[in-house]
Amino acid sequence: MISPHAVVADKPNYAQVKCLVNNSAKHATQRKFSTAANSYAAHANVQKQAANDLFKLMNVPDSAQQGYCVDLGAGPLVNTHALQQSYHHVLAIDLSHTMLKSSNVVAPRICADMDNLPLQANSIDAVFSNFAVQWSANFETLMHSLYKALKPGGHAYISALVEGSLDEIKTAFSVLDSHSRVNRFQTHSNINQSVINAGFIINSATKVIYTDQFSNPLSAIHSIKAIGATSQNHSTHRAGLLTKSALQKVCAAYPLINNQAHVSYHVVLLSLEKAKI
Ligand SMILES: C[S@@+](CC[C@H](N)C(=O)[O-])C[C@H]1O[C@@H](n2cnc3c(N)ncnc32)[C@H](O)[C@@H]1O
Repeated sequence: MISPHAVVADKPNYAQVKCLVNNSAKHATQRKFSTAANSYAAHANVQKQAANDLFKLMNVPDSAQQGYCVDLGAGPLVNTHALQQSYHHVLAIDLSHTMLKSSNVVAPRICADMDNLPLQANSIDAVFSNFAVQWSANFETLMHSLYKALKPGGHAYISALVEGSLDEIKTAFSVLDSHSRVNRFQTHSNINQSVINAGFIINSATKVIYTDQFSNPLSAIHSIKAIGATSQNHSTHRAGLLTKSALQKVCAAYPLINNQAHVSYHVVLLSLEKAKI
């Protein structure tokens, strides 16, 4: 199922977990998530909720239980163990070597770019991807490559951030200038169109808004840094590089609800299928 140039390793053979990423444009994203690796699991509340909802969509046919599932953008393998209850072989793929290394879960892992997947055609039974595909450089191309890698009848369970996500952070920073400190997200309808263009049958595509709440704006801003969700497009404008007075302005402009600083994540939960031949 893995193409010949991929390097796979089960923990503890970390030395073998080589990085297949050779596109320098990806290194900033990789660094950001690697920096967040230690704090990730403790801060990823919303991600856990989305993963639970994604698990509820799973429908694993008997024929696939002995098969292969790819946990794409697996991070510190937070969902890999649960996936192993449904699929005999679960392969964790992530751009960040540090994220992959930080887990004790016993599973093969590959450090690779989802935009250059080392997977053979018609080789996997399922893809599970929670809170990761929005970092793809081209979502539609990614959907084409996942479709190609899946066996006929294979399933993809994907959660993707869409427009509206992190709007509170955007609003707060807009007092400084027009640079967006958060990523631009696709619309729900663009996402649906891309999966259809790739050939998938959509079994369900539901939009859910998850919200984290913090007692102050600074904690809200720090929370997106702790999960690596700051902008990939404007890395020189990170909150960490702001002067004290600029940061005070941003915090003062943060929209509060009942004295709480909310951080909203607009997420599409997709259950997709590749038609049987
Ligand atoms: C928010 S974390 C999600 C982790 C995990 N799936 C979860 O449910 O908590 C997003 C993950 O996507 C990975 N990622 C970002 N861009 C990627 C890419 N181009 N290829 C593979 N993984 C990528 C990051 O390194 C990070 O570990």
